[in-house]
Amino acid sequence: MTTQQGTSTPPLAQSLKAVGPLPAGGCTAVVGLQWGDEGKGKAVDLLAADHHAVARFNGGANAGHSVVVAGERFSLHLVPSGILYPSKLAIVGNGVVVDPWKIAQEINGLRARGVDTSGLRISDRAHVVLPYHKAEDAMREDALTRHTKGPAAIGTTRRGIGPAYADKVQRACAVRIGDLLKPDQLKSRIAAAFDLKAPILAGWSPGDGPSPGPMQIGPLVDDALTVGRELAPMICDTTRLLHDTIRRGDRVLFEGANGSLLDVDHGTYPFVTGSSCVVSGVGTGTGVPNRCVGRVLGVMKAYSTRVGAGPLPTELHDDTADRIRQRGREFGTTTGRPRRVGWLDLVAVRYSVMINGVTGLCLTLLDVLGGFDTLKVCTAYEINGVRDDAFPPDAPTLEGARPVYETVPGFSQEISAAQSWEQLPEKARTYVRFIEDFVGVPVEIVSVGPGREQTILRV
Ligand code: IMP
Repeated sequence: MTTQQGTSTPPLAQSLKAVGPLPAGGCTAVVGLQWGDEGKGKAVDLLAADHHAVARFNGGANAGHSVVVAGERFSLHLVPSGILYPSKLAIVGNGVVVDPWKIAQEINGLRARGVDTSGLRISDRAHVVLPYHKAEDAMREDALTRHTKGPAAIGTTRRGIGPAYADKVQRACAVRIGDLLKPDQLKSRIAAAFDLKAPILAGWSPGDGPSPGPMQIGPLVDDALTVGRELAPMICDTTRLLHDTIRRGDRVLFEGANGSLLDVDHGTYPFVTGSSCVVSGVGTGTGVPNRCVGRVLGVMKAYSTRVGAGPLPTELHDDTADRIRQRGREFGTTTGRPRRVGWLDLVAVRYSVMINGVTGLCLTLLDVLGGFDTLKVCTAYEINGVRDDAFPPDAPTLEGARPVYETVPGFSQEISAAQSWEQLPEKARTYVRFIEDFVGVPVEIVSVGPGREQTILRV
């Protein structure tokens, strides 16, 4: 075959043979097994040391990953947690919805604290969250809150996540990161959005968007082009970059945001987020075939939490909840909202292990449970008077589920200085073994505090 320029290209079959499949199984994915906030940031930070690149595949600025390095706390929303390793590739994949002003602010904040951000790359195919997405998110939530007899508000983070993903699927007026570098294309897309969204935007009052005053096409396009120029050195085809990285034999760590039970398909719908938070999101959210992922680390707390509305079968409303909330600092990294708290729900965790094909667990915040005489663990539900040990992801069904508990012995107050499995009290080890026996997957990492050093590795 010869191209118009006269250079020859190999026939398709030959080029496929020459390329060959990517090496299978060398990569790792980290996913949350509950309703988010499981401590994935710390798990990613720990595993990043053994990987050449870290890639986010879903979510947006709704996520909040906290990492403590040498006593210094970093809260990351859009930038992958791997950024805290100098010059490591930190990739924001195409499946992420990016608020360009927020990511620019986050990058500048990291640089001001001396963090090397030279490894950061943003997919040109990631979708952009614009101020009108946040306005739509807020207006929809407010409308649903007023609707006492209709569907309940989701309790979103109001970061424009759902509306940005909706535009992506709707296609007519979506803006991708690459469009921020193409003035004419950007202008026509934003103009189309204004036309289509006019009835909604008529009621818009600017919140923390970039342009003061009523939203106008011209200033918004200008602001978007300005931030696009700032981000330009980081914008590229990350799919190709990831393929090149893996083909070289380097290992990639895929960082999931939010949590499996907030997954748009497999979570407690409709009280979910807009993206694929489970491991299959790696394929769609980065362009890397899932067969490259050989290890799936599922991160779970030693108890349950949830922010926003939706069923949480083991929820507590008593002193125990207050104690866990205070000790676990259970207040949202993104919104500051107090998190709802409950006993560990192993029915829910086992479901998440199943849909993700989890190969090992990272158990976080075990120290928070220190000092209780006994602990409760949910091992089945009673739904309409019938006992069932399967998880129903449909929200109305789950709302009616009554948890069936097993009571296990508590352990002593202070385990946050434990450096090894042997240094954990026997009753804490019994709690860990109870979890792995129930879900059928080993607990590979136990976290007993926020610091990198407060980690017990069992592999
Ligand atoms: P959205 O993602 O802002 O649309 O919010 C949808 C639901 O997911 C709400 O209940 C949020 O509180 C929840 N949510 C989204 N991201 C996170 C997260 O990273 N941690 C915990 N909850 C989250």
